[in-house]
Amino acid sequence: ETVEWEAASYDMGGHDTYMHKEISEQPDAVDRVLRGRIDDRFSTVHLGGLNLDPREARTIRRIKILGCGTSYHAGLIGASLIEGMARIPADAEPASEFRYRNPVVDPDTLYIAVSQSGETYDVLAAVQELKRKGARVLGVVNVVGSAIAREADGGVYVHAGPEVCVVSTKCFTNTVVAFALLALHLGRIRDLSVTDGKRIIEGLRKLPAQIEEILKTEDEIKSIAAEYAGAQSMMFIGRVRGYPVALEASLKLKEISYIHAEAYPASELKHGPLALIEPALPTVAIVPDDDLLEKNRAALEEIKARSGRILAVAHQPQAKADHTIVVPKNEDELDPILMGIPLQLFAYHTALAMGRDIDKPRNLAKSVTVE
Ligand code: G6P
Repeated sequence: ETVEWEAASYDMGGHDTYMHKEISEQPDAVDRVLRGRIDDRFSTVHLGGLNLDPREARTIRRIKILGCGTSYHAGLIGASLIEGMARIPADAEPASEFRYRNPVVDPDTLYIAVSQSGETYDVLAAVQELKRKGARVLGVVNVVGSAIAREADGGVYVHAGPEVCVVSTKCFTNTVVAFALLALHLGRIRDLSVTDGKRIIEGLRKLPAQIEEILKTEDEIKSIAAEYAGAQSMMFIGRVRGYPVALEASLKLKEISYIHAEAYPASELKHGPLALIEPALPTVAIVPDDDLLEKNRAALEEIKARSGRILAVAHQPQAKADHTIVVPKNEDELDPILMGIPLQLFAYHTALAMGRDIDKPRNLAKSVTVE
């Protein structure tokens, strides 16, 4: 009886776990974050709640993004999208680190707080302190009316819908898309051309169908995951845009499978982690088909030369990799959004093969509202 009641009140929509449900919902979720915001006439996007007029947007000298966990990783991609499209220097930092280092609060910096729940203590406390010091703070938040959304001067809702699994999947993806919208908006107010605006808009519109395509490769990803499920530890590498994807994928794997995982920028391999490479330490490599492709391939060669096993996420099969998960190509800027998705499924099936409690990993909470 109890089981029936639970099944009825927590609608899993035919999925075995919330995580699987939420991964599967991503095409619709991305559609929602885009809906009603694209302006084809001016090749830009409108963000109703931003509270930042074009004049103010032109005076921003720097952008600092703050978040925790997966939201911090979304912020890292957000920073590179903003810097790339709007040419405003931007970076992301864990909210707690920022708070504890007595930061210089600069009036020409726009601060952006990122949070799924909108209730994470470290992020909220950073927002409150920034506001006390007179800074302008925007929120990129999922839960409407949450504490961070209320404290912020304005922002962008992520519209991922309710996320129940402790680890974040669809909200991560939607947050990154929300940042792409913000980057395009700021870019078009500043120097981004109409042509580039159009190109990004076309890329954004392709995302839901491309995510659908990736989800169709789940069986293949599941069988690959079965081969890595016994690993003690895994390395994740990426370069520039691919590095935050590696960070997030490694976090996802460690959170739900309890396999130790760490992420490195591909070029840092030679400055230490290469010493670890051997057959028992597999590497997951993010290898987009962009101007860094050859450099990334060189990293795969270095790993292969040390008999390391490689799983590549790429736009075409990689000769040096033992397995490649091929994802559809989008615009270079938007590729990170797609490349993270098969690795959500990889973490999921690895953890499932190891019999883990996927929706409620040990020692973790969905939102951490204490210091
Ligand atoms: C907790 C969760 C993470 C999440 C982080 C930030 O640690 O376990 O999955 O990324 O909080 O949460 P937020 O709601 O602020 O995005």
